[in-house]
Amino acid sequence: MRLLNASGCLDALTAPEVARSLDVFVTKTVTPLPREGNEAVRIAETEGGMLNAIGLANPGIERFRGEVLPRLVTLGVPIWVSVGGFCVEDYASSCSTLEECDEVEALELNLSCPNVDEVPENVGEVVAAARAATTKPLYAKLSPAADVADTARAAEAAGADGLSLVNTVKGLALEDALQPVLARGIGGLSGPALRPIALAAVYACFRATALPVVGMGGVTTGRDALELLAAGASDVALGTVLFADPGAGGRIRAELEAELAARGFAAADNAVGTAHGLDGRTLDRKSRVAPKKYLHTGANMAG
Ligand SMILES: Cc1cc2nc3c(=O)[nH]c(=O)nc-3n(C[C@H](O)[C@H](O)[C@H](O)COP(=O)(O)O)c2cc1C
Repeated sequence: MRLLNASGCLDALTAPEVARSLDVFVTKTVTPLPREGNEAVRIAETEGGMLNAIGLANPGIERFRGEVLPRLVTLGVPIWVSVGGFCVEDYASSCSTLEECDEVEALELNLSCPNVDEVPENVGEVVAAARAATTKPLYAKLSPAADVADTARAAEAAGADGLSLVNTVKGLALEDALQPVLARGIGGLSGPALRPIALAAVYACFRATALPVVGMGGVTTGRDALELLAAGASDVALGTVLFADPGAGGRIRAELEAELAARGFAAADNAVGTAHGLDGRTLDRKSRVAPKKYLHTGANMAG
């Protein structure tokens, strides 16, 4: 199991020691052209979490490659780049640019930002175009929509190597005068409120695909990380918690160790998938529940 940061939740160049406390540093989403992002106010605290509407502010792929990436390399932490866009070609072109960068270990396709007006087309098409543009490991980052398992299957069929689950869900906070706190109105909700939603998405996708999952969404303790592993994540990412507790990486790792030891797991990897009533060590990924059967069960549960 690796501990990562969630994209957009850590500026490794201003907090290098935080990045070094993790096994992988994931960049803020990079788009082909530079973006200023949305107007302020872009962040608000809310019950059980945080709302953001940053709007993918970033320097654009060329400045990222020329100026940011060389500085990130000096951290000595494996780098994953989060790639975003508004059409299939955006993703394909950034992936082929990054294919030339040996210092980038993997690419995460942000297919799920709630804070921009133009959303990418069909997930399968985006993943297929990115797959054709790079040999690097490709993770598809999805939002926890009702059809997340179907979307995950489409990403798998199109050549994704893994899933990052989950991005934020839409939320709204109103101030005293009953106006939206965020300039954009609606934002993305992250933090503890997202935890059961993230768990459900990881659980569903673990049963629906054979892809490894980076689980995230409201992790604040080792117990939270363990639950994501049990639901089926093989790696865990920390997001909102890093704003309040930059030392969360070390603390959560220690808490996870204690949780694992208390339950007799020799290693974190042995806990993966245990919520499915399977032994994570001997799990035959091909013998998972058939997709149709699972979907049927899901529909009943929703009622
Ligand atoms: C301020 C902020 C900025 C974010 N920026 C991005 C981003 O650029 N790309 C992305 O894929 N996810 C972004 N996210 C979503 C996180 O990566 C993560 O999926 C989400 O916050 C859930 O994890 P958490 O509850 O631990 O924060 C952002 C989240 C926050 C709070």
